[in-house]
Amino acid sequence: MFSSFVCIPRAISFQSITSHSSSKSEKAQRIDHHFRKIHRSVNMESLQNRYLFAEIFMRESEYAERNPNARLIKLGIGDTTEPIPDIITSAMAEQALALSIAQGYKGYGPEQGNRELKRAIAETFYKDMQVKENEIFVSDGAQCDISRVQMLLDSSLSIAVQDPTFPAYIDSSVIVGRGGTFKAESGKYKKIVYMKCGAENNFFPNLSTTPRTDLIFFCSPNNPTGSAASRQQLKQLVEFAKENGSIIIYDAAYAAYISDESPRSIFEIPGAKEVAIEISSFSKFAGFTGVRLGWTVVPEELLYANGYPIIKDYDRIVCTCFNGASNIVQAGGLACLSPQGFQALKRTMRNYMENAKILVDTFESLGLKVYGGKNGPYVWVHFPGLSSWQVFNQILERAAIVTVPGIGFGPGGEGYIRLSAFGHRDSVLEASRRLRMLL
Ligand SMILES: Cc1ncc(COP(=O)(O)O)c(C=O)c1O
Repeated sequence: MFSSFVCIPRAISFQSITSHSSSKSEKAQRIDHHFRKIHRSVNMESLQNRYLFAEIFMRESEYAERNPNARLIKLGIGDTTEPIPDIITSAMAEQALALSIAQGYKGYGPEQGNRELKRAIAETFYKDMQVKENEIFVSDGAQCDISRVQMLLDSSLSIAVQDPTFPAYIDSSVIVGRGGTFKAESGKYKKIVYMKCGAENNFFPNLSTTPRTDLIFFCSPNNPTGSAASRQQLKQLVEFAKENGSIIIYDAAYAAYISDESPRSIFEIPGAKEVAIEISSFSKFAGFTGVRLGWTVVPEELLYANGYPIIKDYDRIVCTCFNGASNIVQAGGLACLSPQGFQALKRTMRNYMENAKILVDTFESLGLKVYGGKNGPYVWVHFPGLSSWQVFNQILERAAIVTVPGIGFGPGGEGYIRLSAFGHRDSVLEASRRLRMLL
């Protein structure tokens, strides 16, 4: 039934769109470059295509141009849409206004973040995990921290990622020279280990067949699959890292969405402080995607082979390459973690997770296998026998809904699409109605 809907061959020619849009910039590059002595970095050269969301945006814009009257529903990019509760924006406004008076003015703050905020992060997210304030580095978001961690660790180190995975781990690894050549046949970089995390293995890698790497990027709840690793699985991961002398870079950006007993932090696992760095963000639980605030925990117990504490180098990176998060934004972050602020944010998160349930029910009613949407705000839908760009194009063409093709998250995402539950309720309901009508 559903396959007849998705098989209608109305694919957009990716080639023709890219060649058109790149010709202008190629012309610009041709002008006046002969005197230049600087070669493009080989690492930048080996990055594949454009950033996934830029590609989606381009296809979406092309569709909108051809269909000016269509009401496009955007369930693609994982960007929050609901307003930030007033108690939080008021705290930021108050801090901004205080900068206009002599007693309230503040210049640079501690590069690692305001003490009060670090204490609130420790109490809210790391209760009983022995995470100390000085191990928390407040930042301008998780994406920036992923790159700072890349800068911290030697570029010769080998890495493993979940497959499918959030693209920033791979792209930032390639940028610092950890990728090796890209193999078009497999859709993989030669030097990167892709740990298959599909429905067949409960979205957790088979560690008994995973080769040793120096670094392991691990995201839970996962973007794009929406699945959260269980305690047992994370114990295995920590054990695996210990046996191999590896470091886990754990991305907990969606931890606040966990609704079951799954750990909300890698530091819930005994011994994790000796093997893991945790990166997290205010973006997804507080709607701070545009405001920008995050943090990274580097435990004192995490040491290099020579016994030198990694936290000391991370501190150096933060002081050298970042000068601390905005004091206005940190005031907002503190308000997020106040009892009233956190309660208000929980209501918004509940709303997004209800959206996720509507999407899960919709696709299940179409007879499809659907994953995620319980511990994370993403819904991961399987379309056996179809390519994910094919499904993306068909849903765009037939229902005017923007999704994300699973292949954009790595070869393990082929045959899937991801939908974000971060839309407004009326859009999600309308998307559900359109999808059901396609039966
Ligand atoms: C897993 C994951 N980590 C990090 C980020 C980036 O977060 P931030 O907005 O804090 O940079 C995202 C954004 O989509 C994400 O999905």
